[in-house]
Amino acid sequence: MQRIAIYPGSFDPVTMGHLDIIERGLKLFDKIIVTILQNPTKKYLFSVDERVEMLEDSLGNFDNVEIAHYNGLLVEYANQRDAHAILRGMRAVSDFEYEFQMALMNRKLHRDIQTVFLMTSLRWIYTSSSIIKEAVRFGGDIQDMVPPIVHDRLKKKFSLPTGGAN
Ligand code: PNS
Repeated sequence: MQRIAIYPGSFDPVTMGHLDIIERGLKLFDKIIVTILQNPTKKYLFSVDERVEMLEDSLGNFDNVEIAHYNGLLVEYANQRDAHAILRGMRAVSDFEYEFQMALMNRKLHRDIQTVFLMTSLRWIYTSSSIIKEAVRFGGDIQDMVPPIVHDRLKKKFSLPTGGAN
């Protein structure tokens, strides 16, 4: 039996922190399906197609990673794809309450799907898609925190000159 995990999220946009979790997740799972889902509490900067494109460009090197999107319940999609695990990264105590609540709800909705948490590497502990977007919006240099395509796309979104240092 293949060990398949869903790595769900908004990925608005994908960051080096996400890529780190995927790379480390591949040591535990045979296949990871990176899935863009709707978080009803968020307003997105990028469309689903744009987010898929950035993920595909950033993860092109991995054979055992698939990019998907789904409009509905995460556990429903996991079940459809024969995935028995949900992979999530945990940065700090501040993430815990939300992650714990989501993991318990997902378990209530589907008992056979386990949530597995990986601690974010120390290097990415303070980063998030939201804080990165805010930094770029005001001209901050975040080049080493995101894949190159994301850096370009963020600059375009905020109509900033692309290439070179800020
Ligand atoms: O990157 P995020 O925004 O923290 O990811 C949250 C996400 C998209 C994984 C979560 O909101 C989600 O699973 N949305 C789909 C609907 C669902 O199944 N919600 C959880 C149980 S109510």
